[in-house]
Parts: sequence; C-alpha cells; structure tokens
Amino acid sequence: MSLVDTKDMFKKALKGKYAIGAFNVNNMELVQAIVAAAAEKKAPVILQISKGAREYANPLYLTKLIEAAVEEHPEVPIVMHLDHGPDFNLCKAAVDGGYTSVMIDASHDKFEDNIAITKKVVDYAHKHGVVVEAELGQLVGSQFDEGESGGKIGNGLYTDPNQAVEFVERTGCDSLAVAIGTSHGAYKFKGEPYLDLERLKEIAKRLKGYPLVLHGASSVIPEYVQMCNKFGGKLPGARGVTEELLSQASKLGICKVNTDTDLRLAMTAALRKHFAEHPEDFDPRKYLAPAREEVKKMVMHKLEVLGNVNRI
Ligand code: G3H
Ligand code: 13P
Ligand code: ZN
Repeated sequence: MSLVDTKDMFKKALKGKYAIGAFNVNNMELVQAIVAAAAEKKAPVILQISKGAREYANPLYLTKLIEAAVEEHPEVPIVMHLDHGPDFNLCKAAVDGGYTSVMIDASHDKFEDNIAITKKVVDYAHKHGVVVEAELGQLVGSQFDEGESGGKIGNGLYTDPNQAVEFVERTGCDSLAVAIGTSHGAYKFKGEPYLDLERLKEIAKRLKGYPLVLHGASSVIPEYVQMCNKFGGKLPGARGVTEELLSQASKLGICKVNTDTDLRLAMTAALRKHFAEHPEDFDPRKYLAPAREEVKKMVMHKLEVLGNVNRI
C-alpha cells in the first residue's frame, strides 16, 4: 500500500467509536518506533510533521523516511500529514511535496480570516486530492486556568458549536480540531485534568458523522515524568490528559488524537536512564536503540487506549 489520506480511516473510526493515533516525527528513530508499533497492533496511523520538524530535519529527509516506512510495512495504512501549517505557502509546499493531508491552523486569527485562509488551502489541496484539517477555538495553556482546581479556561476560547457548523460549511475542510480544554506541552493542568466533554458532545451532535480532532492530547505519562526526574531531569508538576478522558473523547466523535509530548518524554526518559546507568557509552546506537524501543512500547500502549488496535 502507498500513503493514504484520512477519509477512509476517519469513516471507520467514527463508526467504530475509536480514534486514530497521530504522532509527530522529527527523526528516523521516531518514524521506525511508531510504525513498528502500528504494525504490531494492526493500527492505521498518522505520521505528522510540524514546521519545526521540517526546519530541524529537512523536509526531504522526513518524506524519504516515511516512504521507507511505507515500503517496509505495506500492510499499515499510513498518512503523511502537515501539523499546524501556519500559512497557505507551507500548506502548498506540503501538498506539492506529496503529503496526503495538511492542517491549516489559523485559529488565532479572527473567525472570518480563519475561514478565508482555510478555504484557500482547501481549494488548493482538494484540487490535488489532499485532505485538510482546520482548527477553531484556541488551545491555551494552564496559565489561563481558573484557580487551582481545574483546567477550565475562559468560555470564549473553547470551540463554539454554532460557529463550528458554519465554519465547516463555509470552508469545506475535511476535519476540525476543537478546543475543549487541552493544550500543548507537558503542563496542561494546574489541578485535576478536565475536558469539556459536554461541549464535545454538542459539537459532535451538530456535525453528525464529521471527524473531530484533539490536539494537545498527551497524557504526560507519570511513569516517564518520574523516570526523567529520577535521572537528572526537572519536570515538576508536569500533567496531561488522563487516559480515561482520552478514551471517553475517542468515543464521542474525536477520531484523531495528536501526541507529541509523550513521545518526547518516553525518548528522554529512556536516554536519561541509559546515560545514568551506562556512563561509559558513547556509541549513539547503544543509547538510541533503547530509546526507540521505549517509544515503540509507549505508542503500542497509546493505540490500545484509543481503541486503535486490530483495525487493519
Ligand atoms: O503541536 C505542536 C507539536 O507538538 C509540534 O511541536 O512545533 O515543536 O515541532 P514543534
Ligand atoms: P501534545 O503536546 O499534548 O503531545 O500535543 C501534540 C499536538 O497537538 C501536535 O499537534
Ligand atoms: Zn497540535
């Protein structure tokens, strides 16, 4: 199988009430670990590349790594997706470069401007057979939390269900990232993790059968935070979306769950542990192999949490 887009994947995920794991890739070890995990769990998977990843690795290398993964595992449906495309030009570059899915993120612009730029990307991408994810609402961090007890952010920053319907109708985007209380990074909540699942239900009800996306969805897995801290790291108070909340969201219309921070934590924890226990090592293969293995283990677990196993 060659690269696929998300249409068929999302249709099946919505019907089966599970979510596809979307994982950020920046280097060879991450690509290998994620695709090996997907193959073992018989899971379709989305490999996503941010602007920063393109700048770090050179877009050509990432494309070639993903092509190699497709060749090694023809049985796994793999999407090559642009994560958080900041403008039309980068989305166009991704479409022209063979990505099968792009995200245009104009969520920080005014509603009408978000619609205009999203529509421009949709028109170009659809002409080339590429699907488009857009975002409405803002994934602000815990600095906007109300008090110490929870992750409830100001109402105006969450996705408005009425606006979501209008946005999808007017732009023609293929999937929509919604703001229901998540944020990017390792510090998502000051207090108990909280997602506005009632709002999610309302959006899903009004956009019946339409694919919704959850960004900022890492669980900030406590085991890895502890491992980092134990071996010289400094991540006090890091906290993410619980697996229970992720699993609930996956049954309520979220069919793509974005994970980057958990990959970073798994890899960093394994590296810190390895260097602490083997200070004599200086061969990158010696420390990157266990780090890659830890990422694979984490991704296999994540696919279970999302219900994205035995789906090929
Ligand atoms: O949502 C952002 C992703 O975690 C990508 O992060 O821009 O540092 O590559 P990055
Ligand atoms: P996390 O920082 O929670 O992993 O979110 C990643 C993400 O949303 C990528 O677009
Ligand atoms: Zn994101």
